[in-house]
Amino acid sequence: MSHTLVSVKGMNVHFDKPVLKDIFLTVKKGEFVSIVGKSGVGKSTLLHVLAGIHKGDGSLRTPSKVGFAFQNHSLFPWMTVNENLSFGLDEYQDNEVQEWVKLLELEGKENHYPMQLSGGQQQRVALGRALATNPALLLLDEPFSSLDTHTRQRMQEWMMDFIQKIDTTTVLVTHDVEEAILLSDRVLVMKDGTLEKEFVVPFARPRNADIRYSEPFQKLKKEIFASY
Ligand SMILES: Nc1ncnc2c1ncn2[C@@H]1O[C@H](COP(=O)(O)OP(=O)(O)O)[C@@H](O)[C@H]1O
Ligand SMILES: [Mg+2]
Repeated sequence: MSHTLVSVKGMNVHFDKPVLKDIFLTVKKGEFVSIVGKSGVGKSTLLHVLAGIHKGDGSLRTPSKVGFAFQNHSLFPWMTVNENLSFGLDEYQDNEVQEWVKLLELEGKENHYPMQLSGGQQQRVALGRALATNPALLLLDEPFSSLDTHTRQRMQEWMMDFIQKIDTTTVLVTHDVEEAILLSDRVLVMKDGTLEKEFVVPFARPRNADIRYSEPFQKLKKEIFASY
């Protein structure tokens, strides 16, 4: 039985107007949950609350070790792939970093700088860096949205395999409903600061990316869009 890792109760955030309104969310250990919704509805704000970057009014329980990857990579441009990956590790462990390089499919790029990498490679370094400290909770904010369609699809497929190999709990924010369904156990629709609807993704893991062309997948996608 997996236990509750994240618990948010009655969470409110007010900027110049209410941005999060009475949010309730629980995530179990090992789950992959996506939050989808239109731009400006409060998705990033909720992730920031989960990361402890922003403090809201309400009850919040999260693990202390959280990894965070944003849309714009946020890599250190003056550090190589190896240096970016080992940033945040207590001590540099060569074999550990080497393992990450392999898992992230970055072999041969260890001593390259971010500007020498493709967008997809940069995004994988950012993911690796968020994960290298072995966080109990991984928070991803539109991690693939700056990539072109083809690279984004390849990254989604890579991510499908990747999450089978690592042992973590993930909350992903995306406006790409197909990406959310492919990767998640549950998809939550956020609307105007509230979590309006929950969809349980019925496809067993490991999944094949071709599932996106299947009828049940397209039906679920349509249902989620209808609730936007
Ligand atoms: N630091 C801030 N100060 C004031 N308003 C903010 C701040 N961050 C976000 N907002 C506002 O809160 C709303 C939700 O923003 P955000 O959470 O970034 O939405 P999303 O990620 O869904 O696009 C928007 O209207 C945005 O302008
Ligand atoms: Mg956002």
